[in-house]
Amino acid sequence: MRSLFVCVSALAAVSCVEAFLAPMSVARTARSSSSLSMAYNKVFVAGGSSGVGREVVNQLVSKGKQVVAIVRREDALEELNAIEGVTAVMVDALDLKGVEGALDGCDAAITTLGGSSGENRVDYEGNRNVIESAGILGVTRVILVTSVGCGDSRGAISDQVYTSLEKALVAKTKAEKMLQKYYTNAFWTIIRPGGLQTAEGTGKAILTENKTIAGIIRRADVADVVVRALDNDGTHKKVFTAVDPSIPSSFGDASKAEAFPL
Ligand SMILES: *[C@@H]1O[C@H](CO)[C@@H](O)[C@H](O)[C@H]1NC(C)=O
Repeated sequence: MRSLFVCVSALAAVSCVEAFLAPMSVARTARSSSSLSMAYNKVFVAGGSSGVGREVVNQLVSKGKQVVAIVRREDALEELNAIEGVTAVMVDALDLKGVEGALDGCDAAITTLGGSSGENRVDYEGNRNVIESAGILGVTRVILVTSVGCGDSRGAISDQVYTSLEKALVAKTKAEKMLQKYYTNAFWTIIRPGGLQTAEGTGKAILTENKTIAGIIRRADVADVVVRALDNDGTHKKVFTAVDPSIPSSFGDASKAEAFPL
């Protein structure tokens, strides 16, 4: 994986892949007559070889979605390709053409990319490649998973936490701004998880639009809210904090956070 990144967001890069391997599923189904609601069935995932991204892959598959994941390691390639419904391809998120090739044929993109590779912040440059490729290809549904502390949620975390994560938060904030600007007409969603824990999901995590909220959330629960947001058009063009009000946290009190209805 690309070097270290401390407590908050997930590293990973996965993407959508070979249109020639898996037939393109244009299957977007209108679910309601009152609003145009899409179900995205072939989903590109960047960051899916570990952490939150890996949980996202699992949950997409369990919902019957096809996944195209970009990975950088052989072992991750094999592991993900062994999952029915997943096509993993060896693509470095820093390689724009590679990302574009993998994303081609997918109808949505989810990126949980983070970390750094040498001088390059994958948080920004990898995510930028996903956003740019989606723009080029006309993939209008993009979910970017960043971190509490980014953008207008800076005030939700202490100076100490901010300082320890500053490089990542600055890079992720740049990616967020790019998504919001580049994607003026598209269906983007930004999800900023609180401090991450690895443990069984509680199923109690929420998305909130309140930018003062911080807290803890388990990786599996981040994936849960991300995958539920995917086909929920109420989440379009919105920025959310993802926290678990049932887990007490020294980062902040999320127990009274108002939940966005997913
Ligand atoms: C955000 O949450 C805080 C803490 O629960 C609360 O005091 C504040 O009123 C909320 N702000 C909005 C806009 O709901």
